[in-house]
Amino acid sequence: MVPTAAALNFVGRATWEALSHHPVATDVFTDAHEVPHVAIGRRADLVVVAPATADLLAKAAHGLADDLLTNTLLTARCPVLFAPAMHTEMWEHPATADNVALLRRRGATVLEPGVGRLTGSDTGKGRLPEPAEIARIAELLLHLGHGLPADLVGRHVVVTAGGTREALDPVRFLGNRSSGRQGFDLASVAAARGARVTLLAANVEAPPPAGTEVVNVISAEALREATHTAAKDADVVIMAAAVADFRPATVVEHKIKKSDADPEPLVLIRNPDILAELVEAKREGRLSALLVGFAAETGDAEADVISHGRAKLARKGCDLLVVNAVGEGKAFGQPDNAAVILGADGSETDIPLGPKTVLAAAICDAIVIRLTS
Ligand code: CTP
Repeated sequence: MVPTAAALNFVGRATWEALSHHPVATDVFTDAHEVPHVAIGRRADLVVVAPATADLLAKAAHGLADDLLTNTLLTARCPVLFAPAMHTEMWEHPATADNVALLRRRGATVLEPGVGRLTGSDTGKGRLPEPAEIARIAELLLHLGHGLPADLVGRHVVVTAGGTREALDPVRFLGNRSSGRQGFDLASVAAARGARVTLLAANVEAPPPAGTEVVNVISAEALREATHTAAKDADVVIMAAAVADFRPATVVEHKIKKSDADPEPLVLIRNPDILAELVEAKREGRLSALLVGFAAETGDAEADVISHGRAKLARKGCDLLVVNAVGEGKAFGQPDNAAVILGADGSETDIPLGPKTVLAAAICDAIVIRLTS
């Protein structure tokens, strides 16, 4: 814990020490025999600056070292993560924008701030990203051992996430177990790598990642419309959402009552396959985006998970297919995921069980290779 003098105006030293169970270092002259301004940075596996103010970003960008935190930033050789928080005007000021760009070019990871209520009565861009999101990206950086490259700058990435709900009546629906977590982590990592991200979220409870433009949808039909709209100028469309393949043929207008006559058998009709429509649009030249599909598979008597994945990739015609083995508590709603990323070019990348952010980073790697080749 290295609070700045400004941070101590908000939260006192005793609180930092009690909550972290560690002594708190604040200046370069306390315990000078331990040379803390060098020791802390050298020892660190990761430095997280949260909240990172406009002033702190400016100091970090220009290599100033007038307190323990800025000294630590100069001596650290590990990944550095900045989670900015400031008023909108400060974030949008060209000086801050240049400082952020410079830090990113040097390999630091600077999250986009969130949009919402700020410390005054104002709202706008500049909110500290959600602590859970900062923690997930921090975990990713620790896992990777390096910062996230700014290799998606200037790219528009569309991510679908969550699970669609198909209405039976005004209060009931057919749904699925997707938590939306993998899609949200993909959006979060793509944004941290510099992309403009449109996140099409189908019934996801978690707060959306900062720096993404979120469109909330409920049904497959609504997701379809939103996807086609967002895909028009997209460089990449990642279909991580679990889209219902079928929906009830009729939606009863009133709530179905127990007292109603014996229920009619449920008749289902097929939903359009959004990914297949995108592939078709690309073949006809109406779309240029790289198309990434997901497949949740279980092995069976005829073929294993990968063979099913290869067959689905060929059938779907997308550029990349991320194949998850599901069942027995794997994938749905879990923070960890394992997958194989299959390329239409025959490539196969195994991602062992690990945080969903790590899989998200590997998918972004596969995407960047294809966008730049
Ligand atoms: N998908 C879609 N529209 C649908 C259904 C699925 O765009 N109506 C997308 C998913 O978002 C996912 C991919 O297609 O990226 C694979 O979905 P899946 O349902 O597993 O594929 P299917 O071809 O329906 O295969 P299966 O026979 O296993 O259901």
